[in-house]
Amino acid sequence: MSTNPLERNLGLDLVRVTEWTALKAGRWMGLGNRIEADRVATEAMLAALNELEMDGYIVIGEESKSGRHSPLDTGNRVGKGGGPAMDVVADPIDGTNLLVQGRAGAISVVAVAPRHAMWVCAPAAYMEKIVVDREVGRALVPECLEAPAAWTLALIARCKGKDVRDLVVFVLDRPRHAELIEEIRRAGARVSLHSDGDIAGAIMAALPGHGVDVLMGVGGVAEGVTAACAVRALRGAMVARLAPQSRQEWEAVTRAGLDTRRILTCEELVQSNEVFFAATGVTDGPLLDGVHYRGHYATTHSLVLRGETGTLRQIRAEYTLDER
Ligand code: FBP
Repeated sequence: MSTNPLERNLGLDLVRVTEWTALKAGRWMGLGNRIEADRVATEAMLAALNELEMDGYIVIGEESKSGRHSPLDTGNRVGKGGGPAMDVVADPIDGTNLLVQGRAGAISVVAVAPRHAMWVCAPAAYMEKIVVDREVGRALVPECLEAPAAWTLALIARCKGKDVRDLVVFVLDRPRHAELIEEIRRAGARVSLHSDGDIAGAIMAALPGHGVDVLMGVGGVAEGVTAACAVRALRGAMVARLAPQSRQEWEAVTRAGLDTRRILTCEELVQSNEVFFAATGVTDGPLLDGVHYRGHYATTHSLVLRGETGTLRQIRAEYTLDER
C-alpha cells in the first residue's frame, strides 16, 4: 500500500483513454476495414492521451512491424506537456484483425512508467517472450529462453504443483511457431492457439484464474514492452529477447547496437515499480468483455493496474453517447 491514500493514480486517467478508444474502435467490429479501424482508434487514443497532465514520450511504437507510420510512433510526444515525464507505450487496438473480423479478444491498451524506465529497443519489431504468474515468479530464469520448452514446462509445472499435461500454453498461431508447438505437445502440455493478441495472452498468463499457465513465442516488441508493464504490476515474471524476423530487421537492429542475444527480465524491460497500465475490451474476449452498444448507451469493461501498490481494478462503465 502507498502511504498516501490520495496519491494520484495515473492508471485512472489511462483507463479513460482506453475506454474512449475502445468506444470509437468498437464501431469497426466486423467491418473488414483494418486501415480505417486503425486510423480511427489511433486518432481517438492520441486525442485522449493529449488531455492528460503529463509529458509523455512514446518509447516504442509499431512502425517497424507494421511498416506504417502513426502519431504513436517511437519518439513522439503525448500529453499536455506539464506534469510528470513519462515513458509511454500505446496500442489503440491489440488485435486489429480480431476487431475487423468480428472475432474475440481485441483490446485497447496503454501503459506508462517514469521517463527512461522502459527498455529502448527501436527499431526492433519482434521479440521472443515467456510469461508466467507470481506462483512461478523467480523460478523463471533467463535460461528458460534457451532451454528446450520441455525443461521450462517441467519447471512451471513443479512450481504450480501441477502435471505438465495440466498446463495450458498460450501461443500465437504463426508458421514461425510450428517447431515450438510441436515441442510443447511432445512435452505433454496443451496448446491454446490464438490468431492475435499476445498482450492479453501475457496478462492471462500472469493473472491466475484465466486458464493460461504460460505464454510462449514470438510477438511484437511494442506488445512485449507493454505486456512487461502489466506483468510487473501483477508481480508475474517475464523473460524476453529480440527475435528479428527478416534480414532487414536484423540489419536495423544490429545498426542500432542492440544485442539480440541479451535476455531481459520483466524488471529490465520496465525498470520501475511506478508503472501504470490500463486496458479496455473492444470485442468480447477471455480477459475482458468488449464494448456493447445499446442505442444511446454503451458499456465498457477495463482493467487498471498500478505497479507500486499491486492494485488491480476492474472497471465497468456505462457511457451516454452523443454520436450522430
Ligand atoms: P496488431 O493488432 O497491431 O495487428 O497486433 C496483433 C498481434 O497479434 C500482437 O498481439 C502480436 O504481438 C503481433 O500481432 C504479432 O505479430 P505478427 O502478426 O506479425 O505475427
